[in-house]
Amino acid sequence: MTVYPPDPAHLDALRERTVAVVGYGNQGRAHALNLRDSGVAVRVGNRQDGYRETAERDGFAVQAIADAVAGADIVALLIPDEMQQRVFNSEVLPGLQEGSTLVVASGYSLFYNLLALPEQVDAVMVAPRMVGSNVRLRYVDGTGSPSFVSVERDATGGAAAIALAYAEAIGCTRMGCFASSSREEVALDLFGEQALWPAILQLLEIAYEVLAEAGFSDLATIYELYLSGEPAEIFENAARLGLLGQLSMHSPAARLGQLTGSLPEDAARATRERFRDVLASSILDGSFVASWQGREQAEIDSRLAGLFAAAAARPMHAAEQRVRAVIAPPQAAEGNG
Ligand code: NAI
Repeated sequence: MTVYPPDPAHLDALRERTVAVVGYGNQGRAHALNLRDSGVAVRVGNRQDGYRETAERDGFAVQAIADAVAGADIVALLIPDEMQQRVFNSEVLPGLQEGSTLVVASGYSLFYNLLALPEQVDAVMVAPRMVGSNVRLRYVDGTGSPSFVSVERDATGGAAAIALAYAEAIGCTRMGCFASSSREEVALDLFGEQALWPAILQLLEIAYEVLAEAGFSDLATIYELYLSGEPAEIFENAARLGLLGQLSMHSPAARLGQLTGSLPEDAARATRERFRDVLASSILDGSFVASWQGREQAEIDSRLAGLFAAAAARPMHAAEQRVRAVIAPPQAAEGNG
């Protein structure tokens, strides 16, 4: 595995060059601010919405996307993945000049060949493994955020230098920049979203239902399962010490339980089959993206609202609402990350 260490000399590839950041959301704001603070010439292109106002408050003279892209040497496409094809083809493509570089922060559009990329345009991926607010915070505090980097098309011979310069400028080399690919990045991302995390959520729900049937109180059960924040602490410790290493912080009985209590073989086999199926028949064959791509925002919002309402009615989530109402006033939901 290749890890690229920090090196201020990486930034040389961005000297005398202009970066157009398209989109000022989670990642766009962090990239634009970090690039600017690293001394890179940045333009922001955004449609007329609240994100544009945020960019203006941050001191950028925001342009229409097509105007920001025109004449830029590097274009960072930082809008939601499922919107990229339409916006790229209509507003970015006409302004791309020969020898320029497209930067993406996920492998989605490049791996699934969604963009009509001209032959003489380079394409690289600099994909931070963090939400945008952390990419900014960790640039400011100097720790930096880890990131997957790849060169997806090198028409000019200079794509790798631009990728590393961009990663350096947004603070990603400080924590280590790892060589990867659009295929690996998008598949791992979607696998987490479609296989691993739904299974973890389902296990929590099953655990709640079993404990509720046995008469355990909602408050104690939901606290024990996740509301105390203990699972987050365990994962933080795992990041520092390893998944097995963090076991040393638990009692002998807890260690014994965690090392012996795994699911029976038939349940593990079924889970393995399910994970393989999601990877092969939803992610790698492109069928998920084909079904998701190009949908209108209103349709996405309405589908998600229906799914959310159905989930919220299930026993554990309904119990969580009852517990929250008792222990603290309801908090406003935070945006997607
Ligand atoms: P976001 O949801 O925060 O994007 C909002 C921005 O997109 C706003 O500037 C908005 O004006 C613009 N936008 C939305 N729909 C548009 C449309 N139809 N036409 C024109 N502009 C539109 O996006 P986010 O989450 O920052 O994702 C950007 C890229 O970064 C994606 O490729 C994503 O996979 C990647 N990424 C995101 C992470 C995160 O923290 N959310 C983490 C790592 C990578």
